[in-house]
Amino acid sequence: MPEMSDPVSGASPQAHGHVPSPPMLPPWVPALASRCRALSIWIVQSRQRPRVMDDEHEPLCTQWLASALGLMADIGEDRVPGLWIADVTPGQSGTCTELRAVAIGPELFRQRLFMDACGRAGLDCTEVERALQPHARWASSSAWLLGEVAARAARDEALLHQHREAIGGFTRQLTDSYETINLLYALAREMDDPSKPGEIVNHVCERLAECGALGFVGVAFGQSRSTPPEIRGRVHSTGRTFIVEWFRHAGHGLAERCGEWHGTNIVSSNDSGAPVDLVVHPLCVAGQPMGVLVAGDRSSRDGPLSSYESQLVEAAGRYLAGFLHNCSLYAQQQALFLGTIKALSASIDAKDRYTRGHSERVAHLGRRLALAIGLSEDQAERVHLSGLLHDVGKIGVPEAVLCKQGRLTDEEFELIKAHPEIGARILEGIPLLEDVLPGVLHHHERYDGKGYPARLAGEQIPLVARILAVADAFDAMSSTRSYRPAMSREIVLQKMREGLGTQFDPVLGEVFQGLDLSEYDRLVAQAESAGSPGPVPMTITSNRAAA
Ligand SMILES: [Fe+2]
Repeated sequence: MPEMSDPVSGASPQAHGHVPSPPMLPPWVPALASRCRALSIWIVQSRQRPRVMDDEHEPLCTQWLASALGLMADIGEDRVPGLWIADVTPGQSGTCTELRAVAIGPELFRQRLFMDACGRAGLDCTEVERALQPHARWASSSAWLLGEVAARAARDEALLHQHREAIGGFTRQLTDSYETINLLYALAREMDDPSKPGEIVNHVCERLAECGALGFVGVAFGQSRSTPPEIRGRVHSTGRTFIVEWFRHAGHGLAERCGEWHGTNIVSSNDSGAPVDLVVHPLCVAGQPMGVLVAGDRSSRDGPLSSYESQLVEAAGRYLAGFLHNCSLYAQQQALFLGTIKALSASIDAKDRYTRGHSERVAHLGRRLALAIGLSEDQAERVHLSGLLHDVGKIGVPEAVLCKQGRLTDEEFELIKAHPEIGARILEGIPLLEDVLPGVLHHHERYDGKGYPARLAGEQIPLVARILAVADAFDAMSSTRSYRPAMSREIVLQKMREGLGTQFDPVLGEVFQGLDLSEYDRLVAQAESAGSPGPVPMTITSNRAAA
């Protein structure tokens, strides 16, 4: 009685201990087996321990074949009439495994092997014959073609697989390129305001995480002078809490070491101490390190971080570094611009030692009042600039008149009254200062229409000019001038209340009463310590109170 066989291979248990497991199949073999089944050919792996490629629709055929081939291997038989076996040699692609093609002819059912294989597998001979009969299409005269047919099919499948892989790789590359372009497009759209680098850095973190399906993206900056001042030493990040927490502490160290990174690197968690592997990209401007962009915790793709994530982070990093360079240049330009404006206004104030720091204080109060009535930061900044420049026209007023002790003659007062128009003419050719002109030209208009130069009234007066009128008068009354002393805070505010609706816009004047003046007082103290004179009595009715 034959030994019980393995239900899959058909080989005897004794053979198991001596025969190694079949080698891994090339990925195209299942497709080959399926294709050959249409030709009544079975594909079998391994000669010693035959494994018939599964045919779930005809399990009887598969079981009998496994049993028959196992039996033949055990008894050392390799030729049985009606059971045709040929090696499949598809060329280079097929050399990694041992494949055989098996087909049957009508004479098989008369062979002893047929019944022995049925018995070995515990199968009913009649049922097996009924299942195999439709496939017994390979007569002995055509059996010699079996190897050639199977080999051609194998070559086709190997080639098809190769092409599918190439197309798959190309598709992945296209998808990756699309994602990169999409990211850069989104970043380009959002990188529109060089005055807010912090906001843009946050956008970059979010976009990169979204586009690269990364669970964590962070940016840390060192203290380099090439970094925009607003974000120096800052850490930005988005992602899962445990990595964000780690980066909050480790980010500064990475940023300080960013000069050590050369190009974009994939760094394992073992080397970095991070909770996940990271792509690390140093942010540099003209060779000067600014900080570091890191990303990791890939959420949607299998396997470790790859060149795709590395390229994506590098693309975003280069874009961000370029933008931050622009931010630095913008900040420098703004600082230079504002410094020049401040120097100009200070030089005008300095013509009269009693007005030292006046423009800066008016600018400060104008900004505070603008914010208090609900204007935006940007609008308040323009009011501040208007305040710095509001008296620039005094550059065209003779110093002897500006600094005259005692009461002015009518002619001298007319010269003083020309300063708003002189100032507007000086600034009108400067495109960046177009919105400053109304404040400069009209800051001496009165709400009741009795001011100068245009005698505008009420809301005909530009808002910035109404704001500056309040701030200008407050500072004028609060500080000592050559012709009169300063008034106490209480009296100044009282005088301003009396001027609501006549000298001042009543709404603005009312809001002004509630402003916090501590920073203003600091500026006054600063000017006094620089040599401004102390307070002396005065009244608001002076013809130069607000000049
Ligand atoms: Fe003025």
